[in-house]
Amino acid sequence: MAKVPTARIDKLLSSMGYGSRSEMARLGKAGGITLDGAEVADVARRIPVTPDLPLRMRVDDEALDPVAGLVILLNKPLGMTCSHKEEGPLVYDILPRRWRRRDPAISTVGRLDKQTSGLLLLTDDGDLLHRIISPRRHVKKTYRARLARPLTGAEAAVFASGDLRLEGDDKPLAPAELRVLSGTEALLTVTEGRYHQVRRMFAATGNHVEALHRERLGGLTLPEGMAPGEWRLLTPAEVAQVFDPG
Ligand code: URA
Repeated sequence: MAKVPTARIDKLLSSMGYGSRSEMARLGKAGGITLDGAEVADVARRIPVTPDLPLRMRVDDEALDPVAGLVILLNKPLGMTCSHKEEGPLVYDILPRRWRRRDPAISTVGRLDKQTSGLLLLTDDGDLLHRIISPRRHVKKTYRARLARPLTGAEAAVFASGDLRLEGDDKPLAPAELRVLSGTEALLTVTEGRYHQVRRMFAATGNHVEALHRERLGGLTLPEGMAPGEWRLLTPAEVAQVFDPG
């Protein structure tokens, strides 16, 4: 059985962004931290860090934030970026402010362009992140694309060929699957995550992507009714769906 990790309360709360260890010591003395209903004055105490801790611990009379190992599903809105290198508001701004100070830090699992919406995962679990984005895992990503010009009918074969080499890339793309929905709308499923991949794939066929939305990652679909900007934590069973063939 996996050993349950333990942590000092002041260190744990500090790593979750609540404040410095001395601030946590002050908060504990002032009665602002409780565990199983009892005040924790001694924040140097070590406790087991179990996933149910948010149900048992309160800080400033609020349930503790999720402990490390969290996975967030976000319906990324248009206009927000996944990278500090790009200009504009960051997807991290949607999350509670103190989560920016968490250690380990929360990162996006791959990236969506500023002008791409839809299913985006964020996690502080580096191993999981790498397993999802690893090209060896072939996790499928499905995008709904609205195009500037009508599809010609030749695109599906080009994308499925495994021979399409995008400008500037040294290797051809892995085969991808196109499902045409209408003259100017299609679902494209890819297993790689190259830079601006979907936009560049349609550009290679002489078209232009006007709107792009990610609907699916592996076997995990963006829930219907989840509004842009909405997010929630995923359960372990939902995380496992990412590795379902989809
Ligand atoms: N392909 C793109 O071109 N943009 C994205 O955001 C994702 C895939």
